[in-house]
Amino acid sequence: MTMKSAPIYFDNAATTPMDERVLEEMLPYFKNNFGNPSSVHSHGRNARETLEKARKKIASLLNTSPGEIIFTSGGTEADNTAICGAIETYGIKHIITSPIEHHAVLHVVEHEVKEKNIRLSLLECDAEGNLNMDQLALLLEKEPNSLVSLMHGNNEIGNLNDIERIAALCKQHGSYFHSDTVQTMGHYPIDLKALPIHSLSGSAHKFHGPKGVGFIYINKTKKINPLMLGGGQERNNRGGTENIAGIIAMAKALELAFDDQASHAEEILQLKTYLKSQIEKNIPGVTFNGLSGNLDKSLYTVLNVSFPPSENNQGMLLFHLDLEGISASGGSACSSGARLGSHVLNALEADPSRENVRFSLSRFNTKAEIDHVVKILAGLYQA
Ligand SMILES: Cc1ncc(COP(=O)(O)O)c(C=O)c1O
Repeated sequence: MTMKSAPIYFDNAATTPMDERVLEEMLPYFKNNFGNPSSVHSHGRNARETLEKARKKIASLLNTSPGEIIFTSGGTEADNTAICGAIETYGIKHIITSPIEHHAVLHVVEHEVKEKNIRLSLLECDAEGNLNMDQLALLLEKEPNSLVSLMHGNNEIGNLNDIERIAALCKQHGSYFHSDTVQTMGHYPIDLKALPIHSLSGSAHKFHGPKGVGFIYINKTKKINPLMLGGGQERNNRGGTENIAGIIAMAKALELAFDDQASHAEEILQLKTYLKSQIEKNIPGVTFNGLSGNLDKSLYTVLNVSFPPSENNQGMLLFHLDLEGISASGGSACSSGARLGSHVLNALEADPSRENVRFSLSRFNTKAEIDHVVKILAGLYQA
């Protein structure tokens, strides 16, 4: 009888497992301190105090002021808030983004373009997903009052955009700059006093916190109208009773992420380097999508592998991995589970006959897991 191995999780760009310490931190807020922070009695005041402590903690980790942090239900709401809010507040008539943004940006941009008669410029990207920065500069020169939404780290191919450079360009031309930083939040140091950005987004479940909670940073000099209208919570910036337990947990998760950020980065990069070399060694003909094979220019958490077509797998590689208890992904997680192909790989004009698997790592992965996955992959690729 063969023993089944423990399940292996290599889909951390979709979501990360919660850190035990984060879970411990949040549990008491379901039972005690359950008050509504908008209530004026002692239960409410206790909840308010907790909420403001969490806001302060997150602000200080990002080197900004608490008034610039607004809690949301996650990354999607933060991106939607930034885009709709900037358009409405500043009368934006032109948006610049890229075809490889997450749908949390692309779909709201497409909606606004259609409904509000706004012009859209999509930056050109080459076969590796590098964006045309000269085109960005030219577009901004022509139309200074634009909204630029460009992500920091790409969730599918790991490409890192130079957000300092983009922020400087936008500042020079007086354009609004939002960055979807969902994949880099807690994984890369960030100093909001030094970075001239107007808004960015964070989502707790991408840094070992719970799902359904996130935040948007909005620079105090560039306030935007809220997306969610309601009871005036978050100083009228986002209606809706705050998810106190989730927010507490997010603050703890971000603190843990930043406490050991450099050593986590080093550990995960070593795992990625090892995974890449083992795959190259054991499976002939592999390449890497986007810049994910370039260890200096991509997220240390993401390796997007392009496998040659094979008789054995016939487009079923992810399914075969799943049967072996290995969770990886073909691209971004999609709520319907539908596999429509990746808009990111399509934009890169990736060869449709190859099979693409995104392995995304966290500090909870091990070298032994990589050895096991590579053994399974090698088996699947044996003639
Ligand atoms: C780059 C990026 N932006 C936005 C989101 C959406 O975040 P959330 O799941 O918190 O709504 C994700 C999640 O996959 C993401 O990877």
